[in-house]
Parts: sequence; structure tokens; C-alpha cells
Amino acid sequence: MSIPESDFILQASDLSKSYKSGSRDIQVLQDVQISVMRGQTISIRGESGSGKSTLLNLLAGIEIPDQGEVVWNGTPVSTIAESKRPGIRASYLGFVFQSFYLIPELNTLENVVLAARIAGKSPKEAKSLAEHFLEELGLAERLQSRPDQLSGGERQRTAIARALINKPQVLLADEPTGNLDEKTAQRVLDQLLSVVEKHQAALLLVTHLAGFASRTGTQLHLEDGRLV
Ligand SMILES: Nc1ncnc2c1ncn2[C@@H]1O[C@H](COP(=O)(O)OP(=O)(O)OP(=O)(O)O)[C@@H](O)[C@H]1O
Ligand SMILES: [Mg+2]
Repeated sequence: MSIPESDFILQASDLSKSYKSGSRDIQVLQDVQISVMRGQTISIRGESGSGKSTLLNLLAGIEIPDQGEVVWNGTPVSTIAESKRPGIRASYLGFVFQSFYLIPELNTLENVVLAARIAGKSPKEAKSLAEHFLEELGLAERLQSRPDQLSGGERQRTAIARALINKPQVLLADEPTGNLDEKTAQRVLDQLLSVVEKHQAALLLVTHLAGFASRTGTQLHLEDGRLV
């Protein structure tokens, strides 16, 4: 039986992406296909440089593929006006970047509030949601700290709170526990999995840890530009 189109929350077909390195073209991704259902959890492993972050950037519409199409909830990203993408992206998906990308001038609370404001939440609701998620991630005592005053793990947890605040339908997480000690990493993974389950969000988790990958329903590998 085929699955109705609408059950796919995120799809990509024939995605190819190359970068120029001097006079050479580096083919990073080639004809990548992925179909993600509501609530599905997927891990992606692959060697350093295999294109995992590139793939997440394409799926998030942050980078444009050379070929192929990314479809958010039935709508091809290329058909969404560029001016509308940030607002739609903010409500549709959460992204935990490998290098966090927190805004250095803003404190922890403000960094997380901003994501909710971009998605159209009122200042009051944004603040109360931000406090809730930051508390859940053990950052209640760090609300007023700026990123340069936080440890690597605290920055990472701030980035996770920011990705979760809009209760996204899709959570893209690029090595979200990479800077954490084993115990905290386990706790953060538990939190991620429980939040996505609670909200029936789909999760794409990039990790190099087999133990973490085994906790997702589907396990994929990126090899030679292809997802297997
Ligand atoms: N903006 C860019 N310009 C040129 N080359 C790039 C760019 N971004 C990525 N690359 C190259 O594309 C390849 C894939 O990079 P990517 O960051 O997607 O790998 P990755 O699988 O996430 O690696 P890691 O596990 O180290 O994070 C690498 O060879 C990288 O050097
Ligand atoms: Mg990467």
C-alpha cells in the first residue's frame, strides 16, 4: 500500500550539491532521496566531510541544491517567496546547528525568545516558553548569560531550547550532543526524543555515535554522496 502524500512532512528528491574548491568541483551530494513521515525519527551517520551538515542545510532551505527539490509539508521550498521563508521555517522546523550560531550580543533567554518572535509569538508568550524550555534543559540559572560566558555544553543546550521553542514539526539536529559529557549527552538525547514524541515531530539526528543512532526508528548512512 502506498503512503498518502500528506503523511510526508518533509521530502527531498534527486538532491545534488557540489562546491568549488579552487578550480575543482567537489560533488558532496548526488541524487539524494529522503521522505520523512510525521513523528519519524531518523539518524544520519557518515564520515567527516561526507555531507551531513550540507544535507541538513538543504533540507532547511538555508542552502539551495544544484539539482532536486526540497518539499516542506507538501510545498516545494523553491515556490515559497524568499521573504516568507524565515517566518515559515521558524514555525515549521527547528535546527540545532553543529556550531550553534547563537547571537553573541544576546543573552540565553533573548536568544531563545528571538526564535519564537520570528515565528510570530507575542513577547509575553515567547518569554514564558523560552523560560520553560531553558529550565527543562537545566539552564534556569543562566538566563542572563551571553554565549561567551557559557560553557560549550551550555551553548549547545541553549541552541536546543531555541530549536524546540516553536514545537516544530521537524527537528534537524546536527551532532546536538557533540560537546557534552556522556551523562549530559544521554540526558539531552532523552529530552530530544521525548519532546519529538510528545509533539509527534519528526527528527533527523546527525550523530557519529552508534549507540545514539540505534535509538532512532530509521538509521541512514551518507556514503559517497548518497544516502543508504
Ligand atoms: N560553503 C562551502 N564551500 C566549499 N566547500 C564546502 C562548503 N561547505 C561544505 N563544504 C565541503 O563539503 C564537504 C561536506 O561538508 P559537510 O560540512 O556537509 O560535512 P559533514 O559530513 O557535516 O562533516 P563533519 O562530520 O565534519 O561535520 C566537505 O568536504 C566540505 O569541505
Ligand atoms: Mg557537519
